[in-house]
Amino acid sequence: MKLPINENGLPASRLIYGCMGLGGGWTKDPIEAKHISQAHEVVEVALDNGINMFDHADIYAFGKAETVFGQVLKENPALREKMIIQSKLGIRFPIEDKGIPARYDFSKSYILESVDGILSRLNIDYLDVLLLHRPDTLMDAREVGEAFNTLKASGKVRYFGVSNMSAGQIRLLQRYSTEKLVVNQLEMSLDKIGWLETGVHVNQIAARDNVFPEGTLEYCQLKNIQLQAWGSLAKGLYTGRNLEGASEKVKNTALLVQKLAEEKQVSREAIVLAWLMKHPAAIQPVIGTTNLARIKACTEAVNVTLSRDEWYSLYVSSRGVNLP
Ligand SMILES: NC(=O)c1ccc[n+]([C@@H]2O[C@H](COP(=O)([O-])OP(=O)(O)OC[C@H]3O[C@@H](n4cnc5c(N)ncnc54)[C@H](OP(=O)(O)O)[C@@H]3O)[C@@H](O)[C@H]2O)c1
Repeated sequence: MKLPINENGLPASRLIYGCMGLGGGWTKDPIEAKHISQAHEVVEVALDNGINMFDHADIYAFGKAETVFGQVLKENPALREKMIIQSKLGIRFPIEDKGIPARYDFSKSYILESVDGILSRLNIDYLDVLLLHRPDTLMDAREVGEAFNTLKASGKVRYFGVSNMSAGQIRLLQRYSTEKLVVNQLEMSLDKIGWLETGVHVNQIAARDNVFPEGTLEYCQLKNIQLQAWGSLAKGLYTGRNLEGASEKVKNTALLVQKLAEEKQVSREAIVLAWLMKHPAAIQPVIGTTNLARIKACTEAVNVTLSRDEWYSLYVSSRGVNLP
């Protein structure tokens, strides 16, 4: 098993719809009817264009992203079985009046309590995939393993995974979890190229500036852990965003993306995502656009094949300097 599958054996799509932009954004303002309509439209366009996997986190828009999605499912219960729903937990908001900062929490009680919150907001009985959002410095891998077992036994979660974790952290968690970790979601894009640089810079002084955890890409491939790329559209940097003040390498790369898109008669989004998808790790890009035309444009990526020369041209252009 590589891509997660849903209860009916339906495999996940190559692209994942990232729901962080739903629910009206990062404000404490209440949900409005227009936010629910937006969620309806986004889900419809995603499903109609072949995206069946949806990525959430309990914190997105302070829980409102899951809530509006849950409203869509409440109004159309039949949609649930067409979807693979993933969410994340483990980040706690600050409690300002008590002076408590934002922090991470992988304690068993917090994991169990968070899953109940996720299921209730999403209006579902089970999650297809649960991810630990960011490593908790105080994580006790045995306790996490126990929480996973409880969630599996209760039927509340089918598959487990992590996000923003190194190979070492995954190995530690896996040592104490009888549930196989099936996903690692990391920031990877044509703009954030640390996932490639770490391999290219072995033995070189330039490696000191790279924050991507060395060996993680290879470890996930070896262990059949599905890699997912968040920030995959680089927030539109190469697909039409205003580039005033951007660096020369960004501007040049945006032009190259445009040229390839014209040659292949596809959208610029398709080029940027196809570039990620060409890597043999079979990365699943998570797309965070709420623009319906852009969601559609992204789905053209599944039919694009870049040659090795095209792929390297984009990579080198994004680096801004030739390979060593
Ligand atoms: N695991 C993690 O720690 C983590 C962290 C962050 C995100 N995520 C997940 O990854 C998903 C995607 O991440 P992301 O949203 O940060 O990155 P993204 O997909 O690279 O970017 C999406 C954002 O870029 C904007 N955008 C895209 N194309 C544009 C263009 N041509 N011009 C102007 N704006 C453009 C979108 O606005 P429009 O909506 O207007 O198109 C949206 O705000 C999230 O939804 C979430 O599910 C996970």
